Amino acid sequence: MNAVAQAQAHASAAAVPALAFEGIVKRFGPVQVLHGVSFALQPGRIVGLLGENGAGKSTLMKIASGYEAPSEGVVTVGGRAVSFDGPRAAENEGIVLIHQEFNLAEDLTVAQNIHLGHEKRGRFLLDDNAMRQSAAQVLAEVGLARHPDTPVRQLIVAEKQLVEIAKALSKRARILIMDEPTATLTPGETQRLFALMRRLQGEGVTIVYISHKLDEVEHICDEVVVMRDGRFVAREATDALTRLQMAQLMVGRELSDLYPPRTPAPADDAAPLLRVRGLTVPGWAQDVGFDLRPGEILGFAGLVGAGRTELFEGLLGLRAASAQVIEIGGRPVRISSPGQAARQGLVYLSEDRKGKGLHVDFGLAENLTLMDLGRYASPWLDRAREQAALRDAVAEYGIRTGALDVRASSLSGGNQQKLALAKVLQPRPRIVILDEPTRGVDIGAKREIYLLIRRLAEEGKGVIVVSSELMELIGLAHRVAVMRAGHLQTVLPNEGLTEEELIAHATGTH
Ligand SMILES: Nc1ncnc2c1ncn2[C@@H]1O[C@H](COP(=O)(O)OP(=O)(O)OP(=O)(O)O)[C@@H](O)[C@H]1O
Ligand SMILES: [Mg+2]
Repeated sequence: MNAVAQAQAHASAAAVPALAFEGIVKRFGPVQVLHGVSFALQPGRIVGLLGENGAGKSTLMKIASGYEAPSEGVVTVGGRAVSFDGPRAAENEGIVLIHQEFNLAEDLTVAQNIHLGHEKRGRFLLDDNAMRQSAAQVLAEVGLARHPDTPVRQLIVAEKQLVEIAKALSKRARILIMDEPTATLTPGETQRLFALMRRLQGEGVTIVYISHKLDEVEHICDEVVVMRDGRFVAREATDALTRLQMAQLMVGRELSDLYPPRTPAPADDAAPLLRVRGLTVPGWAQDVGFDLRPGEILGFAGLVGAGRTELFEGLLGLRAASAQVIEIGGRPVRISSPGQAARQGLVYLSEDRKGKGLHVDFGLAENLTLMDLGRYASPWLDRAREQAALRDAVAEYGIRTGALDVRASSLSGGNQQKLALAKVLQPRPRIVILDEPTRGVDIGAKREIYLLIRRLAEEGKGVIVVSSELMELIGLAHRVAVMRAGHLQTVLPNEGLTEEELIAHATGTH
């Protein structure tokens, strides 16, 4: 073949998309969530898939990877129409999905999870050694320093995410779909993941990257595809768009400032609503003390692993913990469980939405009223009141759902987060502790949650926000507490506070 023919052959090969959607429609019963989506992905590219919560990103990618079947339309791989009867069939075509919501078996080990459904066999039995070895190899690739025999139950959320990624890598995908892989990762882990993605791209792998973190999308993606309300709306080179333009394509309207103006800080001498002294959670947090005043938004910053989540799990009785003083409204209290705390006016939103926040197999109404059953059961459960409460919550928190009588698992990731938030606020608490309240939430809904947090403070409630997004804390909080390696380093008033300053305290380099 001469050079021209070679170039032509190359050009026509490159024109065959790695993956293409043609008129994809998806209905769940009477609810239509995808309305004829068509677009194609060129091989070897990293493509960002953007859209508001509920836009249909995860659903479309579940269709591409065999977890859902399209109601209408065709998926092609390398130009051939395919139809999958399950994820294994898609894996055989080289398509692997890393789920937005983890899909790990908690009781199995890391190595067993990585090989689940693809167990290596010796002559008669499973070859545990071979599985352990290959698991160790992919764990090293994603940078998770855990023994392959560790039970998944013992891992923190970020580690579970790395196991999900390792599991997908071990399948040697040609088309790798990542649904919000960095929602729970530290900046360091994220950088390592990006390096890995670049390496895979160099090997010709096509990557779909779903994220609400537009700075990451800008950094890692060659191009972006934007969906809105179950439809394709745009496809552009990443360089051609600013972040604001990306966000505007997602929401379909002009966007103003993300952060609402802060409410005035509460008076220094106001009596604390919550007073904590000498709170110790063995192995995670030592001798932590702080005050939360009425009308105050107190941020908690720190690196993943600094002990913030565990500190509050200890406070709520979800982990073994001891404290010298815990007072609510000046009265000493003992807290043994989240339910009991709620009766004393303190509620907690867990960062582990699926594990500890929602019962995803229950309906929306059941989830909403679970913490506050007293109001709806007198003595029988009042279904009409429960439905009315659900309708109110759907409107107030902007929960997007096709129907009201569905399970929580059928909500999109960001809408599950809104439901979890609505649930903890049902008992009308005085003190609200929110761990990563905007994780997985789109840019428009984030602002709604910020407004809600501000409104709670204006009503005189005390709000604690644990967040890995420093700009979020700087935009919202009156004071920011910084934890490092289980110790409360400092509590900084938020006057001209910068990200650099917070990072310096969190890493101990100030
Ligand atoms: N099994 C199901 N039954 C009914 N409705 C569903 C089901 N799965 C998804 N949906 C609906 O389809 C719509 C699209 O959801 P999807 O999870 O694809 O959104 P998404 O773009 O991934 O959002 P997010 O950014 O919040 O993850 C949502 O309105 C959701 O409630
Ligand atoms: Mg999703």
